[in-house]
Amino acid sequence: MNTPNDERSSPRPGPLWQPMTHPGEAIQHPPRTIVAGEGVHVTDAEGRRYLDALAGGLWNVNLGFSCEPVKRAIANQLDVLPYYSAFRGTVAAPAVELAERIIEWTSPEGMGRVFFTSGGSDSVETALRLARQYHKLRGRPGRVKFLSLTGSYHGTHFGGASVTGNARFRTPYEPLLPGTFHIPGPNTYRNDFDEADPARLAARCLTALESQIVFQGPQTVAAFIMEPIQGAGGVYVPHESFMPGVRDICSRHGVLLIADEVITGFGRSGAWFGSRLWGVQPDMMTIAKALTTGYFPLGATLISHEVAEEFESNDDGLGAVMHGYTYSGHPVGAAAGLATLEETARLGVVDNAASRGSQLFEGVTGLADRFDVVGDVRGGHGLAIALELVSDRPAKTPLDGTTMARIHEAVFDAGVAVRLSGNKIILSPALIIGPDHVARIVDALAAGLESV
Ligand SMILES: Cc1ncc(COP(=O)(O)O)c(C=O)c1O
Repeated sequence: MNTPNDERSSPRPGPLWQPMTHPGEAIQHPPRTIVAGEGVHVTDAEGRRYLDALAGGLWNVNLGFSCEPVKRAIANQLDVLPYYSAFRGTVAAPAVELAERIIEWTSPEGMGRVFFTSGGSDSVETALRLARQYHKLRGRPGRVKFLSLTGSYHGTHFGGASVTGNARFRTPYEPLLPGTFHIPGPNTYRNDFDEADPARLAARCLTALESQIVFQGPQTVAAFIMEPIQGAGGVYVPHESFMPGVRDICSRHGVLLIADEVITGFGRSGAWFGSRLWGVQPDMMTIAKALTTGYFPLGATLISHEVAEEFESNDDGLGAVMHGYTYSGHPVGAAAGLATLEETARLGVVDNAASRGSQLFEGVTGLADRFDVVGDVRGGHGLAIALELVSDRPAKTPLDGTTMARIHEAVFDAGVAVRLSGNKIILSPALIIGPDHVARIVDALAAGLESV
């Protein structure tokens, strides 16, 4: 048997298949094994230390790796009650308290109820299902379709993959859910309208949304789901008129608006929620990631008072939510969530996200002036930034995978962990990073781009 140390220094994934990874490629190019984290740094099995420009890799460790109150809350809860079911008849105490806190946080968005899940994909699945059930309760069983944006990412369950607007996550698993349709997303760099002006593009996309609803027949459409800022797809920030315009169209056609805030929830955009950034009250919200600063898998679907009322006032049994997960309302996750939200508020990370986000955006924009390979820089709202790399600026030819991998390696060699998504470099650091960290991220990116 290996000692823990032997395991740590093992360079290969062994029998492990990694998410979002070609298993054959992982054998050729084994992943870096991360063994420790402190503050906003991680250390790999070879003892190299990196500034983590990704908040745990996936936009979630927003308070960094050393958040003692959250660690203590998890340890204490394990002592008191490590698990109890939240299915009908019982519930663990911390879940009730966390639901109350979340509703306080989201009262400006008009949220009234919380349904706990194990993560973002579960939260999206829950929202889609509740949307259909809501319409059935209102006597409109024909409202079953879902609309979403190209360029979006909504997780990997069949429902979530069906509304996701990126073929890479869809094609291998087709056929997906029938009755899901996509509207052009507000991507000013690449769109079918040849439109680079954000306001004009938003208007075009809104027209497409309304046309699609009318074409399908509003009486067949259950919900429209969108990220307030598209994250994983490559950080597409819509014009400020876009989400309010979506809200208006959905309301006029009786279509529920689901805001997928799995990334934008709890401060990442420089506002506490993406919906708040755009001044919109959705009908449902999905959250996860930052809710426990990544220390425990926990998510939630939030339901507006109006939607909740339809379920709670139902008296023929059809309002029963016959959906849920063994770990919905997990007490340890809820304890982690309570401590995380307290720390998130105490540290006021939203302000740091806004100011460090501006600094990072400015730094990266400066790189676009220096390096022709940078075709587009997106962000400008908090700590969600992407660089799109091209081999030919006017033609916007995506940079090839081999060169992307070389740049990636060079950024790591310069001591900073960033993520690739196709020909994009994604930056999503913890919301507690300081000005010096931001400067180091920009320097490491410059070193990477110099390697082209
Ligand atoms: C907007 C959005 N929705 C849903 C998900 C899926 O969340 P999870 O990976 O926790 O299932 C993600 C993950 O990145 C996301 O960014």
